[in-house]
Amino acid sequence: MSNPVKSTYLAALRGEPVDHTPIWIMRQAGRYLPEYQEVRQKVSFNELCRTPELACEVTLQPLRRFGMDAAILFSDILVPLEPMGAPFSFAQGGPKLERPLRSEADIDQLQVVDAEEGCSYVADAIRLIKQELAGKTPLIGFAGAPFTLAAYLIEGGGSKDFMHLKSMLYSQPALLQKLMDKLTDQTIDYLRMQVDAGVEAVQVFDTWGGILHVHDYERLIMPSIRKIMASLKDSGVPRVYFLKGSSPYLHLVKDLDVECLGLDWTLDLERTIPLLGNKSIQGNLDPLALFGTPEEVRERALAICRQGAAARGHVFNLGHGILPPTPIPNVEVLVETVQGFQRS
Ligand code: CP3
Repeated sequence: MSNPVKSTYLAALRGEPVDHTPIWIMRQAGRYLPEYQEVRQKVSFNELCRTPELACEVTLQPLRRFGMDAAILFSDILVPLEPMGAPFSFAQGGPKLERPLRSEADIDQLQVVDAEEGCSYVADAIRLIKQELAGKTPLIGFAGAPFTLAAYLIEGGGSKDFMHLKSMLYSQPALLQKLMDKLTDQTIDYLRMQVDAGVEAVQVFDTWGGILHVHDYERLIMPSIRKIMASLKDSGVPRVYFLKGSSPYLHLVKDLDVECLGLDWTLDLERTIPLLGNKSIQGNLDPLALFGTPEEVRERALAICRQGAAARGHVFNLGHGILPPTPIPNVEVLVETVQGFQRS
């Protein structure tokens, strides 16, 4: 595998020496940027994800403005569900599934498809972005974790209490497992396709993994994450697992075979890093901290950088995605502060 990019981000993931703490921001391309809004006025979100030239353009927008240490493919975790037979639309209130999956017949009709065929526009976008980045900045590929995808499929969109998902967990666990198995196989093929197309790291987003009892997390979610990460090991591409709400599960996730764990903003890095063994970490400023004063942003960011220096490697990020009303000057302050921090 060729890896021509000399990158602080990749070095931090691998636990190699770096000259500064690298930073990228979850959802760094998106609605808080006027240049993104401009593109979105002309096309729908779905069209944007399916048009490689436009996906490439919005992927590069935050880098031009702020100079982050990594680019992330512009897409969405729900994109690979459409070719499986579960189309979504993105309305004002978030994603909406045309037909939520609730019965055995619903889940049986979901197909695992060849990702290169079903999502060829994603591979095309990756190749185009790589050309534009020209080896200067690494490109992150990603997928949703099977449980997080299952949550959207079963609920039909976002949810406060996950009533349908949890009803299935407690009344038809074998059915939920069947769905998890299909999503795991699809995710493996989808991520491998991205690696073949040229992404230099992969992140699995488990936004809703934190809603289960520890035993259910261990039984239902862990095996799928293990299988996905094992399938990527030979590729040599660093693997990042972002689990929102991971604090009850740290003793479990510390044993996952991944290069890096993404942490949400509730965790104190000083106490958390020693619990995670020899792993790099990513995180973990509260996205809402960007609504504070620039001085507060600087102080909070530096505190996280200082604590992160105790880890094998530290990639700075927010603890979850950046919000649309975020003041842009504070993003500038954040990137400058983190990139100016010297790990001694
Ligand atoms: O990080 C990046 O810059 C890459 C692009 C990216 C998007 N979504 C773009 C997007 C990534 C990595 C995602 C992941 C994603 N999508 C997750 C996992 C991480 C997380 O934030 O928890 C989840 C749960 C989703 C599902 C999703 N997609 C929701 C809930 C929404 C609507 C609400 C919201 O906050 O936007 C989306 C739509 C979406 N995905 C937008 C963008 C830029 C907004 C679409 C628009 O322009 O209207």
